[in-house]
Amino acid sequence: MVVPYKHEPFTDFTVEANKKAYLAGLETVESYLGRDYDLIIGGERISTDDKIVSVNPSNREEVVGRVSKANRELAEKAMQIADKTFQTWRKTKPEMRADILFRAAAIIRRRKHEFSALLTKEAGKPWNEADADTAEAIDFLEYYGRQMLKLKDGIPVESRPIEYNRFNYIPLGVGVIISPWNFPFAIMAGMTTAALVAGNTVLLKPASTTPVVAAKFMEVLEEAGLPAGVVNYIPGSGAEVGDYLVDHPRTRFISFTGSRDVGLRIFERASKLNDGQIWLKRVIAEMGGKDTIVVDKEADLELAAKSIVASAFGFSGQKCSACSRAVILEDVYDQVVDRVVELTKELRLADPTDPTTNMGPVNDQGAFDKIMSYVEIGNQEGKLLHGGKGDDSKGWFIEPTIFGDVAEDARLMKEEIFGPVVAICKAKDFDHAIDIANNTEYGLTGAVITNNRANIEKAREDFHVGNLYFNRGCTGAIVGYQPFGGFNMSGTDSKAGGPDYLVLHMQAKTTSEML
Ligand code: NAD
Ligand code: ALA
Repeated sequence: MVVPYKHEPFTDFTVEANKKAYLAGLETVESYLGRDYDLIIGGERISTDDKIVSVNPSNREEVVGRVSKANRELAEKAMQIADKTFQTWRKTKPEMRADILFRAAAIIRRRKHEFSALLTKEAGKPWNEADADTAEAIDFLEYYGRQMLKLKDGIPVESRPIEYNRFNYIPLGVGVIISPWNFPFAIMAGMTTAALVAGNTVLLKPASTTPVVAAKFMEVLEEAGLPAGVVNYIPGSGAEVGDYLVDHPRTRFISFTGSRDVGLRIFERASKLNDGQIWLKRVIAEMGGKDTIVVDKEADLELAAKSIVASAFGFSGQKCSACSRAVILEDVYDQVVDRVVELTKELRLADPTDPTTNMGPVNDQGAFDKIMSYVEIGNQEGKLLHGGKGDDSKGWFIEPTIFGDVAEDARLMKEEIFGPVVAICKAKDFDHAIDIANNTEYGLTGAVITNNRANIEKAREDFHVGNLYFNRGCTGAIVGYQPFGGFNMSGTDSKAGGPDYLVLHMQAKTTSEML
């Protein structure tokens, strides 16, 4: 019997042994910086002349790895292999597939701090954020393995005396997995393993700024015994390889996590029938957010300020769940805002390999330029209370930035910035605060800080987001505890890490035998 699921604990880096273990992981990562990584198609390593160069966002001169880049021909080769492998993989025992996930989780656990240190180097994650990303990757494997064991015999249905009816889930086919850079381990590994444990084969296209962690994950899957051709690693350009595979008639489903615009593009293209296609493609699309923390007048104001700071500036605000707006009742506005500014002043912005760093860089030049353009907009739309400066001379660093007195319909309050910028807006009462919180096209996460029970119930009904939290921040969903996914333009609400997620990668088949 497999032991009951429990989430992976977070590492306490004040414990000297843990600190040493992370530093040893960093040393391991440093020993392989700058290496080349091949594509993996049907188990074959394929090197291309064209490379994606993954650099450290804290220091663009430091190359984390050079990764071969798939083009359309190689994507086609990978599709053919995945399609062929599906014919054998779909018949494997769910128990065997789950065992591969459990073994892979154990291997990652043994290499935990190496993976976290790699996330520090490749994605710019401070130690605690990197540790949480690795823990979440482990959780996805442990959780989806167990979910598959629950689903393997289907769900009981009724039978009359002269018949035997069964309701079973079978896999779909070849899935294209398109993952983002901001949780380059957890989300990439979760999307990939959900698809494969359900009996599908996979074409994995990781984000172009973080392909090395995905290459290392491929090593883990191979060591855990995953047969060749089940997961094919094909980093490449979203526009070239992404569009090609989304349009491909043999693509059975697409699992995407990323921005609203790319998600919409995939959703639209996947709806078109291509020559030779005999199914409706399934699309799982988890997209952006414009997440709000509401602070009531009857509330623990210190908790409110801490929650805003942690949710706005954790991983430099580059979480789909990040608090990019705080809506505070006018009665307590000044008090909370002053404390948010005070706490933010204590944050240390620096290279995240240093354990005292609270905030590292943003992803790349594109992210830096976009965020700084929103700082400009913020200067027009609100009052700069803290930060506002960026430095892209070595890496891509932006100060934690707070704008106060922002109007509820300002661009800063509506558009996803995806960086360390928080807009603060005043509400006249709780109803007004919830109206403001609902005034974007997104609906991913939100939090309410209140001691008022009636307002908790009101928010539970009316605050329209997929993940709503009370008296805590709006980031940090845990697999199996807070299934994650959003409403409206935040996506298809697939609820990653939840009991419905695997079923999205399968189709139900009813059989009825007359006795
Ligand atoms: P992105 O949309 O730019 O890229 C995501 C992936 O899509 C990458 O692998 C990229 O190469 C690929 N891609 C780009 N163009 C494509 C195309 N035409 N066809 C197919 N694939 C294509 O997003 P990002 O910058 O990597 O990630 C940040 C975004 O992701 C933010 O908007 C964030 O809110 C969102 N996000 C959402 C969730 C969630 O669960 N809702 C989680 C993490 C991130
Ligand atoms: N699942 C991540 C969080 O909740 C995005 O912060």
